[in-house]
Amino acid sequence: MPGAGDRGAAWARWLGTGLLGLFLLPMSLSLEVSVGKATTIYAVNGTEILLPCTFSSCFGFHDLQFWWSFNSSDTFKILIDGTVKNEKSDPKVKLKDSERISLEGSTKEKMNNISILLRNLDFRDTGKYTCHVKNPKENYLQHQATILLHVVDKLEEVDNTVTLIILAVVGGVIGLLILIMLVKKFIAFIVKKTQEKKKECLVSSSGNDNTENGLPGSKAEEKPPTKV
Ligand SMILES: *[C@@H]1O[C@H](CO)[C@@H](O)[C@H](O)[C@H]1NC(C)=O
Ligand SMILES: *[C@@H]1O[C@H](CO)[C@@H](O)[C@H](O)[C@H]1NC(C)=O
Ligand SMILES: *[C@@H]1O[C@H](CO)[C@@H](O)[C@H](O)[C@H]1NC(C)=O
Repeated sequence: MPGAGDRGAAWARWLGTGLLGLFLLPMSLSLEVSVGKATTIYAVNGTEILLPCTFSSCFGFHDLQFWWSFNSSDTFKILIDGTVKNEKSDPKVKLKDSERISLEGSTKEKMNNISILLRNLDFRDTGKYTCHVKNPKENYLQHQATILLHVVDKLEEVDNTVTLIILAVVGGVIGLLILIMLVKKFIAFIVKKTQEKKKECLVSSSGNDNTENGLPGSKAEEKPPTKV
């Protein structure tokens, strides 16, 4: 028979969850999953490619769950799935979709690396690869990062050329800016030198003036410094 005791327990549970939520809120920001800088990777069919994934966890972990999923226009599947006992152990693979996939990297010594290697690439391997990590220590919150893989029959050289052109242009612009700065500095230096020379003339002439005014040496020093 449901009574006040049950309702009390329910309230306590709610309150408990709420407080736990508040407590875990900053923690949820602590586990991060990263696939590195390049989120789109191009690879040639028949070759192999490393899909990088690392995670960070400042609160540590135990029995951490991880898996990689694949999603293309017509397929969704789990490629590999496993656990990591703790910070001192390497990942244990429980399930693997294909022999072409292997887990690389290590989770020892804070490397937290659960990258996978895909061998003998096929055009059908083009798609989204998502690395998921779930840490029981962090209320089983899931974190993930996605890489887009394009399997192509040859890598476009154009991309590199474009990058090189951009780099050359950027380099050129920076070089030009430095040159302009140097020229400016040089001109400023020349101007300063000329003005110093002028100042010397002024001082000497004003000295002459001073002598004439009967105030030797004082006028020149009162003059505010010339702005360059
Ligand atoms: C990649 O695909 C192209 C086009 O289908 C094919 O000619 C080539 O032999 C393939 N390369 C490898 C290494 O499988
Ligand atoms: C797979 O990707 C498609 C297109 O981006 C998306 O609509 C779909 O929800 C994804 N499927 C899963 C299971 O994530
Ligand atoms: C993860 O491990 C792989 C395989 O050992 C390695 O090639 C890769 O550089 C590692 N990634 C990082 C971020 O350490």
